[in-house]
Amino acid sequence: MNFEFYNPTHLIFGAGTLSKLGEVVSKHGSKALIVTGGGSVKRHGVFDKAVSSLDTAGVAYAECAGIDPNPRITSVKRGADIVREQGCNVIVALGGGSTMDAAKVIAAAALYDGDPWDLIGHGQENWVIPTETLPIVTVPTLAATGSEMNCGAVISNHETKVKSFVQTEALFPKIALVDPELTLSVPKDQTAYGVCDIITHVTEGYFNGADGTPIQDRFAEGTIINAIAWGKKAVANGSDLEARTQVQWASIVALNGFVQAGANPAGFPVHMIEHALSAHHDITHGAGLAIVNPAWMRFAAKARPDKFVQFAERIYGLKPERSDDLECALEGINRLEAFLRSIGCPTRLSELGIGEELFSKYAEDAALVLRDEDGNLLGRPAMSKEDIAEVLK
Ligand code: NZQ
Ligand code: ZN
Repeated sequence: MNFEFYNPTHLIFGAGTLSKLGEVVSKHGSKALIVTGGGSVKRHGVFDKAVSSLDTAGVAYAECAGIDPNPRITSVKRGADIVREQGCNVIVALGGGSTMDAAKVIAAAALYDGDPWDLIGHGQENWVIPTETLPIVTVPTLAATGSEMNCGAVISNHETKVKSFVQTEALFPKIALVDPELTLSVPKDQTAYGVCDIITHVTEGYFNGADGTPIQDRFAEGTIINAIAWGKKAVANGSDLEARTQVQWASIVALNGFVQAGANPAGFPVHMIEHALSAHHDITHGAGLAIVNPAWMRFAAKARPDKFVQFAERIYGLKPERSDDLECALEGINRLEAFLRSIGCPTRLSELGIGEELFSKYAEDAALVLRDEDGNLLGRPAMSKEDIAEVLK
């Protein structure tokens, strides 16, 4: 087991911590660009509280509102222009993963003279991976992506119908100010999709990782078990602050690099396939994952039954007859799929009105960046275009 682990983001976690925003931001800049989504932070009073905390600390601000779910590169350009025009020197992301991802790339694009789309990997010859950004402070309002404490960002280009990512050290937020109270207003469906996203971040590392990672396996299983238990409660009662708190923490743990450390996943195939679907149909990320993940698991279980048997045994207490008992492995996958359905996630493409017409296109797009020399999508096992189409079917 050889690996490196690095995560420099200072995490401040807990109900009520939003009031510290001004104090925290003032350490990194005097004028903030506050990046927000379609208005939920204004409807629920979060924006006013954030601004009042900045005021108290003497931090001025400008705003870049209207970041869409599956954030667009055009919004990133708009944000970078506002930073330059207004002389902002720190970026505050106040919203879900889409807002945080857009804010991260705005922080890089503001210091880059070229086209911000150069910064996102999409199969181009010269991917300009950012090496510097303005300081970033993330304040998540939805538990899902873990973007608040990681160095990734996912951006869509609606002109070319490509949704892709950049992941690099410069994008680590300086501070993640995580106040689970802000997630109390997330509607049931988005709560469920977030829970699915959290679980999928963990399963991607668990099933695509190296053999011989017993400690990491237990971290992963513990995170999944808790995401299921507390996720169910958060969906059933959105006002349950304890459930919201545990789900928020799970979202951070699931993708801040720690659970995957040492497992060195060969890829994130379910995510790459979902991103291709989102690029063409603008679907919600977690809903797309609920469809792709169980189907991918059934495919991958044939190649690596032992790990899927372990999942069935340790997550659902099933009793395998052998360590490669495929029937038991499949039953574990069925149980996960049933859980996702029970909280309101779709599990078939037809539920989102997506047919088979573009399957080969999605398969091609999924392997745009994370591919081997033969063009197969990285993962365990690597997937040919036919494999991807089969999973989608
Ligand atoms: O836009 P507003 O008005 O804020 O409404 C949002 C949006 O409609 C709403 N919402 C957020 N917080 C709320 C709320 N509504 C009521 N109360 C609140 N407190 O929820 C809707 C969805 O928001 P969005 O930010 O799109 O959701 P999510 O956090 O799931 O982010 C999804 C994006 O992140 C990317 C996805 O691909 C997708 O583009 N991902 C980013 C990752 C990363 N940076 O590490 C990893 C993930 O795997 C993922 O790919
Ligand atoms: Zn995800």
